[in-house]
Amino acid sequence: MITCSAPAKVYLFGEHAVVYNESAICCAINIRTRVNIEYSENIVINSSLGTTGIDYEIHPYVSAVVEKIRKKSPYRGVSISIESDIPVGSGLGSSAAVVVATICAFNNLLKLGMDKESIASFGHSIEKEIQGAASATDTYVSTMGGTIAIPRRRHLKNPLCNLVIGNTNVFSSTGQLVAKVASLKNIYPEVITPILSTIGKTSLRGERLLENEDYRALGELMNVNQGLLEAIGVGCDELSRLIHSSRAAGAFGAKITGAGGGGCMLALADNENSDTISREIKNVGGIPIITGVTDSGVRVDFDNE
Ligand code: PMV
Repeated sequence: MITCSAPAKVYLFGEHAVVYNESAICCAINIRTRVNIEYSENIVINSSLGTTGIDYEIHPYVSAVVEKIRKKSPYRGVSISIESDIPVGSGLGSSAAVVVATICAFNNLLKLGMDKESIASFGHSIEKEIQGAASATDTYVSTMGGTIAIPRRRHLKNPLCNLVIGNTNVFSSTGQLVAKVASLKNIYPEVITPILSTIGKTSLRGERLLENEDYRALGELMNVNQGLLEAIGVGCDELSRLIHSSRAAGAFGAKITGAGGGGCMLALADNENSDTISREIKNVGGIPIITGVTDSGVRVDFDNE
């Protein structure tokens, strides 16, 4: 049996702007998906969604990995079981984490010799196949871990404070929100293009603030980034409630993470007020998680093969 795990991710800065090649900063966080794999007679995929064989309705990502790997390196059967602490469809990269953890599990079971770069790019190709379009960011950050400047893929210093995530539990479609920004940009290019470029500048300035461990200023710039995300129409009432109550509870700063329109927000906080922020998020209807950045990207947790 082999167990591999991979982390979720958040955007400290730059979602949506990154679609137009502006800078962003992403962090891998301490919430993980674990994939167990062992040889078996057939293909069995088990998760909280049920137990299936290859099944593109229930387990599309894992089914795609199973079939792709089988073409490259034939094997009889495997039994895969997935346990995840990452909320699904909330912008934290749950699909990327399950994809890269599954690839890593096969890599070790079948001794495929893939390095992290190839796990990340294979993972991206699977996400593209299943979703139609996908940015390479989620699979890259989940594979490598740490804090990464996008699109240059430069590793930055991790923020040494807490990240408090608030999940609105409102469904959000990344594709629809990206299309909404594109349409706004199409109608008002002279207005929207500078906003996207200013978002990119919050990321670039954020890189220097991370280096200096200046979390108060970093939080202030996250609030600026949030204002710009509101301006391009990706906010919603539920997110605003969580963001404003986090700030009132003493967060350095708080903003959407990911596509917006629902999904999750992110507050930067010190140890003293993380619990209060988490309580406030709960009081206004969100699901809080206190976490931090992890350097541990995809990894083997157990291997007795
Ligand atoms: O909600 P997520 O984690 O899929 O993030 C979307 C980030 C966008 O910048 C809005 C889109 C993208 O592909 O980069």
